[in-house]
Amino acid sequence: MDVKKSLRELAQKQDIFIGAAVDARSLQKDQKYSLLLAQEFNMITPENAMKFRYLHPERDQYNFYDADGIVGFAQRHKMKVRGHTLVWHKGTPKWVTKGKFTKKDLKQILHDYIKVVVGHFKGKLYAWDVLNEIIKGDGSEEESFWLDIFGEEYLSWIFQWAHEADPEAKLFYNEWGAEEINKKSDVVYALVKRILNNGVPIHGIGLQMHIGLGEPNMVEAVPKLDSLRKNMQRFSDLGLEIHITEMDVAIQGTKGTMVERLQAQAQTYADIFKTAMTVKNFKALVTWGLTDKYSWIPEYSGKPDAPLLIDENYTFKPAYYALKNVLEK
Ligand code: G3I
Repeated sequence: MDVKKSLRELAQKQDIFIGAAVDARSLQKDQKYSLLLAQEFNMITPENAMKFRYLHPERDQYNFYDADGIVGFAQRHKMKVRGHTLVWHKGTPKWVTKGKFTKKDLKQILHDYIKVVVGHFKGKLYAWDVLNEIIKGDGSEEESFWLDIFGEEYLSWIFQWAHEADPEAKLFYNEWGAEEINKKSDVVYALVKRILNNGVPIHGIGLQMHIGLGEPNMVEAVPKLDSLRKNMQRFSDLGLEIHITEMDVAIQGTKGTMVERLQAQAQTYADIFKTAMTVKNFKALVTWGLTDKYSWIPEYSGKPDAPLLIDENYTFKPAYYALKNVLEK
């Protein structure tokens, strides 16, 4: 293996983006963090800074400080940015959800928000996760603020409005648990096909890939590779770009020595990446965080974990080398 080459250099050769979700505070305060990010990755997703509740926390207030900082960093280091996420019920602030607005008002609020935000970043983002997480594991619809109010109709509006505000940005629908062929991905596939047929500008599908090697609880089990490939392929055949948008591989609940557990994790990263690379329109793999130090998994599960490519002390893990290995072949 060419140890001198960074992950991003190897990815660039294959015309692939390797990204990480980024926390604005760490980027501002932690020099090691920003150095490694720029050195190893050529794509960034703001983990939280571009969510509705951060960008527009009050009706009369917009706050672009953190998001602009991340975009500026990406531009200085020639990295692409995935905007995350425009319309997500969980990212919507209380002033909207509890505001007792009429349907007409809410349509106006959503339109204004998309126009202002997508317009603000116009020309600076590679892609936007326009729509995030609307289908449950069993294929039924999520209880989602926007879906409950408008029904499926709003899906075409939001993509259309985003496209009007930035015609160059690639517009994505981003989902969890739709990696394999299963009930959920069947529903997602049918939905995307339907809105594409209606001429809605949707350019990509984001498969989040929050997976774990132990007992599945807050994350999904590792997808079967053949099923993953077939699923990616059917979305690719619709002409959509495929991104793995939020990958982490949790190891809590697994057995063996730490060396064995990290080796198994590395194998999983490699298997998934290698499989994705066989799909024509696969273009990006983004991990949900840069280092285990700031991962959302231990925080949310309340249990120690190490799901990313770089450990708490900023040492490259076997998973990092495993991805490089895939890129070198
Ligand atoms: O920054 C505040 C801090 O000031 C405050 O003291 C603290 C107390 O709760 O909260 C901090 O904000 C938290 C933020 O993460 C930063 O840690 C929010 O409460 C918390 O809700 C937020 O969680 C994020 C979550 O999305 C909800 O937006 C996670 O970081 C983020 O990793 C997670 O990411 C989601 C994707 O957007 C969509 N797919 C699933 C993925 C994982 O859940």
